[in-house]
Amino acid sequence: MTSKLLIQQLYTERQLPRAKMQMLLTDAFNEASVRDELAALARQTAQSVFGAKIYIRGLIEFTNYCRNNCYYCGIRRSNTSAVRYHLSKAQILDCCRQGYGLGFRTFVLQGGEDLSYTDTAMAEIIASIKEDHPECAITLSVGERSYATYKLWKDAGADRYLLRHETASAEHYAQLHPAALTLANRKRCLYDLKALGYQVGTGFMVGSPFQTTADIVGDLAFISELQPQMIGIGPFIPHHATPFKDYTPGTLAQTLTLISVLRLMFPNVLLPATTALGTIVPDGREQGILAGANVVMPNLSPADVRENYLLYDNKLCSGAEAAEAKNDLAVRLQSIGYTIEECRGDYKES
Ligand code: 5AD
Repeated sequence: MTSKLLIQQLYTERQLPRAKMQMLLTDAFNEASVRDELAALARQTAQSVFGAKIYIRGLIEFTNYCRNNCYYCGIRRSNTSAVRYHLSKAQILDCCRQGYGLGFRTFVLQGGEDLSYTDTAMAEIIASIKEDHPECAITLSVGERSYATYKLWKDAGADRYLLRHETASAEHYAQLHPAALTLANRKRCLYDLKALGYQVGTGFMVGSPFQTTADIVGDLAFISELQPQMIGIGPFIPHHATPFKDYTPGTLAQTLTLISVLRLMFPNVLLPATTALGTIVPDGREQGILAGANVVMPNLSPADVRENYLLYDNKLCSGAEAAEAKNDLAVRLQSIGYTIEECRGDYKES
């Protein structure tokens, strides 16, 4: 079957059987003309749902302490060369205030699994942000916790939660993480979050060590089963102080292919052009949008800590990546025919 027919089937049925999906991915990873065709349909699909508009989220990387030791991640516990910081409640509220002034209506609190913030302390931070900015959405991205903790934070006012599944293969999961972390618990967290009524985001790194195309087909199948409201993907990029320092990064071609395929599978999903994509090529985020992404998440952390939230080498944190440079971002988006939409940007069923 030619890739043209596979793309047609994906477009009309919003899914492909596993073997056909694997064929299409293989073709698209290798051939620019296949990617271009996917991108054109995915872009048209995104525009039919969102118009030529991009949602923005203010990303506050509030702690780089982490109890975990993921083999790929620069803020893993064993990286003693990482310069650690965490923000106080007052600093976090200050970031939100600045972000609000800049036009952000979603705040994403992302951090390592830092238990120095107790569950109650986090709940108080969430409640205070909501009190200051009742019309804004709060997204949490702080890893694996219990149902009770997720419930406490939901009740305090959190709206959304980002937790990438990283890989839907248990064997591959074990190659990326120490034994203390399991795919089963990751999935348990995602289903707990859904059951509690969070808008849930999941996703994976593209081109992570040992990942096969069959693994990626499995990731797409898991995402279909979970039906998340948000999907975050970006290329794996090695960090010099991790066990994966010598592995090859994921490619632009693979990442753009997957953004387009995800958009065709899930027309309404909130799909960011990620920082990692902007890091591997200078116009990565623009290319991501042209391949079907509809969200960008500029950095709203205090300038002096940004350079320490290093999940991977050369991570972008200035220029149009910085929240205060929203005008630069607007100009870049305008150059590809898009505008920023200042609103919460919630998920909508069609
Ligand atoms: N390269 C790319 N993405 C990474 N992440 C962590 N380390 C890396 C890396 N080296 C991603 C993971 C995590 C998210 C917050 O960042 O997918 O879920």
